[in-house]
Amino acid sequence: MKCDFLIIGSGIAGLSFALRVARLGSVVIVTKKSEIDTATNLAQGGIAAVLSDHDSKKNHIEDTIISGAGLCDKEVVALVVDKGPERVRELMALGVDFVKDARDSSGLDLGREGGHSERRVAHAHDFTGREIERALLVKVKQNPKIQILENHRAIDLLMVDEKGETERGGQYCAGAYVLTEERNVETYQAKVTILCTGGTGKVYLYTTNPDIATGDGLAMAFRAGAVMANMEFVQFHPTCLYHPKAKNFLISEAVRGEGAILVGRDGRPFMEKYDSRKDLATRDTVARAIDKEMKESGVDCVFLDITHKDKAFVKERFPTIYARCLEYGIDITSELIPVVPAAHYMCGGVQTDTWGRTSIEGLLALGETACTGLHGGNRLASNSLLEAVVFAERAYEYCADHWSEISQKPYPKIEPWQAGGAKELNEEILIHHNWDLIRRIMWNYVGIVRTVKRLQLAKRHIKGIFQEIEEHYRDYFVTPNMIELRNIALVSLLIIQSALLRKESRGLHYLVDYPEHRDILRKDTRFRKKKGGLLGEVEKC
Ligand code: SIN
Repeated sequence: MKCDFLIIGSGIAGLSFALRVARLGSVVIVTKKSEIDTATNLAQGGIAAVLSDHDSKKNHIEDTIISGAGLCDKEVVALVVDKGPERVRELMALGVDFVKDARDSSGLDLGREGGHSERRVAHAHDFTGREIERALLVKVKQNPKIQILENHRAIDLLMVDEKGETERGGQYCAGAYVLTEERNVETYQAKVTILCTGGTGKVYLYTTNPDIATGDGLAMAFRAGAVMANMEFVQFHPTCLYHPKAKNFLISEAVRGEGAILVGRDGRPFMEKYDSRKDLATRDTVARAIDKEMKESGVDCVFLDITHKDKAFVKERFPTIYARCLEYGIDITSELIPVVPAAHYMCGGVQTDTWGRTSIEGLLALGETACTGLHGGNRLASNSLLEAVVFAERAYEYCADHWSEISQKPYPKIEPWQAGGAKELNEEILIHHNWDLIRRIMWNYVGIVRTVKRLQLAKRHIKGIFQEIEEHYRDYFVTPNMIELRNIALVSLLIIQSALLRKESRGLHYLVDYPEHRDILRKDTRFRKKKGGLLGEVEKC
C-alpha cells in the first residue's frame, strides 16, 4: 500500500487533518476498530473557544495557563486560543450542530466547566464529540481522495535510513506495518505518517476512555526513537459514574458547570474545604479532593447533586447522561449520582513543535497523542478538541508549504515483515492475565496520589511483565490483543519512569514525598529510548 498521507486513528484530529490534506494528495486512514470507536465520540462537554463578546482571548489564555500549573508553553497557548474561534466556526460550516442561543452574541449556548472564568464551551447537549465525529465522517466519506480502513492496526512505524532502506533504528519514518482485517501484516508506505491514536486511559483499571485508548501511537513513536514529554501528567476526571454495570461512563464536568454540587454520603458539600472555586476548581484539585474524601471516610464513591435544578432543563441539557443513569435506576433530576474519579486524559505524549512535527522526520502527531505544550501539568477542560482542530490545520499548513519537497520523496525499499519462526498463540489467558495485572498495578500504585516507593514497586512489577510480553511478541504471530498488551505495558513503564523523574508535586502529578512545587523543576520532562538500554528504558533529553 502506498499513499501520500497515512493517518493512524479516526478521531477529530485524524479526520480534520484528512479533510485538509486531501487537497494535496492521497490519504489513507487506518483505524483499529470501527471508524467511530474513538475518544472523540465519547466527548461530552464540548470545545472551548472565545466566541462571545463577554469573553476575551486574554481570559482564555490566563485560565489555560493557571490550570497548566506553570508548564504551559505560552506561545502555544496564545496560538491555540487565537485560532480557536475560526476553527469552531469552520466545524459549524462543516455541519456540526452546536446548541444555539440567540441571546448570546456568539449565537451559541455556551457552557461552563472547571477552571474557566467564563462560559465559553460550544456544545451539542452532552454528546458534542459524537456530533463532531458524525459531521466530519460525512465529509470524509464524500471525499474520493480519502480511504478509511477499519479493523486495521498499526503495529510499528516503518523506519528507514538516509538511503531509504529499511533499518531498525533508521531515522526517517516512511509509514507503518499494519495488521489487516484478514490478520496479515502489510507495509503501508507514506510520505507523511500522522499519529492520531488518542490517549492511554486503558492502562488504568478505571477510565472514562473507550477500549481503543491503549497508547498505541505513543508506544510506536517511543520504539522508533521519538522524543516524548510529560507523561507523568495523567488527568483523572473527577466524575465517572460509579455503578457495577456502567463501564466507563463519564458524567460531564458541564453538569457541575450548570450548578451540580459534589457531596459526601452525608449529603454535605465538601469542595469549599479544598478550593475557593469549589466544584468548579481545576480537575487536579477536584479529583484529589474526592480521593481524599473517599480515603478518609472509607466510602466507595461520592455523589453529584443536580436535583435543585429544573427537571426539564436537566433532561434537555444532558439527555445522554439522564437516559444512561435512568437505565441503571438513577433519576438524576431527583436522586444523587454516585461518582468516582477515573483516568481520562494523557497531558503528555509525543513531543511536537507548533506544526505538529515530532522529532522524527516524516512523522507528525496530533490530538491526545501529541504533547504540544498547550496543557502543561493539567489540561483545562474542553481544550482538547480545540487543540486537535487547531493543530490539524497547522500540520496541514506545514505540509502545504513544503509539498513540492515532500511529494518528491521517493518511496523507500521496504523489507516485508519478518514473522521468523513464530507460532500461533493459543493461550489467550496469558494476554488477559497480564492485561489485568498491569491495569491494577497502575491504578493502585500510579494513581491520583503517588509515592516514590509505590512508583518503584510498580516499575519493578511492570518491567517483569513487559519482558514476558516481549518474549511472546517474538515467539508468536501478532494478534490485536497482543499488540495492545505490548503497548499498554510499554506506556505504563513510560508513565512510571516519567513520574520518577519529577521529584516535586505539580498539577496532576502529586508525590507525597515531595508535596511542594520546586521552581527548578518548572520544565518539561523530556525523554527518549535509552541508547543501548533495554527496550522500555528511558534517558532524559
Ligand atoms: C467532560 O465533559 O467533562 C469532559 C470534557 C473534557 O475532558 O474536556
